[in-house]
Amino acid sequence: MAVMDHHGKIERNSILLTVLVLIVVSIGGIVELAPLFYLESTIEKVQGMRPYTPLELAGRNIYIREGCYNCHSQMVRPFRDENERYGHYSLAAESMYDRPFQWGSKRTGPDLARVGGRYSDEWHRAHLVDPRSVVPESIMPGYPFLAERELRFGDIAADLKTNAVLGVPYDQAMIEAAVNDVRIQATVDADGVEDFQARYPKAQARDFDGDPARITELDALIAYLQMLGTLVDFSVYEPTAGDNAR
Ligand code: HEC
Repeated sequence: MAVMDHHGKIERNSILLTVLVLIVVSIGGIVELAPLFYLESTIEKVQGMRPYTPLELAGRNIYIREGCYNCHSQMVRPFRDENERYGHYSLAAESMYDRPFQWGSKRTGPDLARVGGRYSDEWHRAHLVDPRSVVPESIMPGYPFLAERELRFGDIAADLKTNAVLGVPYDQAMIEAAVNDVRIQATVDADGVEDFQARYPKAQARDFDGDPARITELDALIAYLQMLGTLVDFSVYEPTAGDNAR
């Protein structure tokens, strides 16, 4: 048969075979890759997502500095057991302002993607200072020094600016207000809290660490933990066709 004759030629000539394999594979590659260059974004736009407030961003930096990601993931997988334990599975949009992302694959402790609002600030304070005071069998280390250390946020505007360069929609007004916004969010009934919440809808402003006299690293970390997974309202969220795909 004619086709088989040709096939014999290809099988006996390794260079010809390699060239043909490369051609076939590159067609597949182009079909997969080319559309991505014409899409503005591969992440579905989801209502409620906003960039981190300066205080939350500072808390996130502490989370990364202390290596919390070594034991905690931040991605609820779309499996029934996970959804029953943690809530709605994570959407791509929920980590689109994360540089770097904190998805993780190691779970010595529970997933934290939706821990916001699950516990009180008091619980977090007690837990972070001494985990075994609230969860006797816990193997998590304590971080009592966070309550002692004043938060250094002199460079927070530069941090926002850097995130803006990477595509996070912080505007000039947010960058200029950043240092003050840290103070506003960590203080009870601060002046300017309405403007702050207009910049960052749903942002929670209060004294997170129970020490109104100072803004500590614990304030920032708890502010961050308390907002995780709370921005998207899943009572009104409707996935688009193909879910996270566009
Ligand atoms: C050595 C591993 C380890 C490290 C590091 C670690 N944790 Fe944990 N974490 C755990 C374990 C185990 C639990 C479950 C027991 C408990 O609640 O203490 C837990 C529980 C938690 C919980 C409660 C979650 C829930 O849904 O009940 C929070 C919040 C938390 N950790 C935050 C942090 C933060 C913030 C850091 C970094 C400052 C951190 N963890 C570092 C192991 C760790």
